[in-house]
Amino acid sequence: MTHKAPKDLRSARWFAPDDLRSFGHRSRMMQLGYSEEDFRDKPVIGVLNTWSELNTCHSHFKERVQDVKRGVFQAGGFPVEMPSLSVDESFTKPTSMLYRNMLAMETEEMIRSHPLDGVVLMGGCDKTTPGLVMGAISAGVPMVYLPAGPMLRGNYAGKILGSGSDAWKYWDERRAGNISDDEWLGIQGGIARSAGTCMTMGTASTMTAIADAMGLTLPGASSIPAVDAGHQRMGADCGRRIVEMVWEDLTPDRIITDAACRNAAVVAMATGCSTNAVVHLIAMARRAGVELSLDDLDALGRVTPLIANVRPSGRDYLMEDFFYAGGLRALMKQIEDRLDLTALTITGKTLGENLEGAVVYNDDVIRPLSNPVYEEGSLAVLRGNLCPDGAVIKPAACDPKFHFHEGPALVFDSYPEMKAAIDDETLEVTPDHVLVLRNAGPQGGPGFPEWGMLPIPKALIKQGHRDMLRISDARMSGTSYGACVLHVAPESYVGGPLALLKTGDIVRLDLANRRLDMLVEEVELEARRAAWQAPVPRFERGYGYLFQRHVTQADKGCDFDFLQSDFGRTAGEPDIY
Ligand code: FES
Repeated sequence: MTHKAPKDLRSARWFAPDDLRSFGHRSRMMQLGYSEEDFRDKPVIGVLNTWSELNTCHSHFKERVQDVKRGVFQAGGFPVEMPSLSVDESFTKPTSMLYRNMLAMETEEMIRSHPLDGVVLMGGCDKTTPGLVMGAISAGVPMVYLPAGPMLRGNYAGKILGSGSDAWKYWDERRAGNISDDEWLGIQGGIARSAGTCMTMGTASTMTAIADAMGLTLPGASSIPAVDAGHQRMGADCGRRIVEMVWEDLTPDRIITDAACRNAAVVAMATGCSTNAVVHLIAMARRAGVELSLDDLDALGRVTPLIANVRPSGRDYLMEDFFYAGGLRALMKQIEDRLDLTALTITGKTLGENLEGAVVYNDDVIRPLSNPVYEEGSLAVLRGNLCPDGAVIKPAACDPKFHFHEGPALVFDSYPEMKAAIDDETLEVTPDHVLVLRNAGPQGGPGFPEWGMLPIPKALIKQGHRDMLRISDARMSGTSYGACVLHVAPESYVGGPLALLKTGDIVRLDLANRRLDMLVEEVELEARRAAWQAPVPRFERGYGYLFQRHVTQADKGCDFDFLQSDFGRTAGEPDIY
């Protein structure tokens, strides 16, 4: 195994030379009260902390960073905490997805421009995992991912509450007049009871599971609840391990390989992953130079049973139960014959070695392959004249009667238009209608918002309907459910075929054949295409201006084109003068 010499540390370029610049670097560290022996010839570890008071999922990170630093010191390293863009899911408008790439850029440049030998990435709330990982892949120094961990189960009046999923469910009951104000307030107070990320298998739990399966976390770290004492111990372990990784020169390119990305995709399918996994996993893989396509994911989804009985795709349990049932290591053990166990991980061991001894303690939560929640995986990829570059649906999370459906489209051009109409009880809509929202994609949203679970029209809610076919070029929250076709590509805002659909056109979803089509003659579509006019750009300045010029479509991961691994020359290390 490689063992770096202190003179070969990246940070030595800042701290070792006997020149004026390095004098400045050393004197400024001493300004913090450190002596030279505290930081000279030691791995300097950046602890990238996405804490913010508006990122309620990361409210424990102020304490947890101390656990990481404790571990780094114990192992003979020197930790420096660095704030990173927090990208909270709850408050960021128009959508946190607009800023995932900003976090990725910030992460890459913060690492590249500072005297860091390795990093611990502290994230968890949806976009923070892909954003941090994408940036760190491009920066190329050893990294450990520290997942925030899920919050405790929600609880109100003896009922278990799941993040997001139960908010949608009880909101519909409130719209139907079945829930009192007092009950609604009780649910509001009980649905988020502790620090940590959403405790359904939403985007946060999906993405941290993906990081775990890729070998970027300590084994099983993604399942530990945020407030469990084991989470603190895991934090210190991350600190100790990253110091060893620096000496071993264990860089991300050795870990994020084709095998690691495929393992992550298989695990995502088996967990009942968020549809957002598709976009982020493709983006992370492309940063590492791994080609992972929508069709690859569909093929893996067809042969991977969903075995995590965790809501919203599963029926009964939440992430806290998943942890007690053995967590992600136990789930991976169940499907180990479908994984590449030779994949290297941050432990310096293979995935197979990391899974040794993993046990399922509750086989109703983590099901055996002989008794899956759903025979196929979580996601299906559709093609057709509405989505030539793909669209996704979560078959396990919708009423099976919609797996084949034909109905007339009811088209909305914007979210405000849809919102105003949907509660109008005179809206002409039947349960067979197909609700369509367009101009909600990466550029149209802007930023690819989570609007894809369109509300059921109030008139239908009152008749007892709780699901109908919905189509958009938006995403939806990983905690959402229903017959929602998402990520239609190319998006309507750039002239994708969804822009040509009219209210009353018949739409057909044929899940078995993975098709989504509008039953409109090609000659008519050609006339509509000729008449289509490009909308005005959303932004004329600032970050949005950069975003709209460079963001790729959903099937390519929505990264900026100039940040992908195959774009241009790698700048390499910064010059130091
Ligand atoms: Fe942070 Fe759901 S809002 S993970």
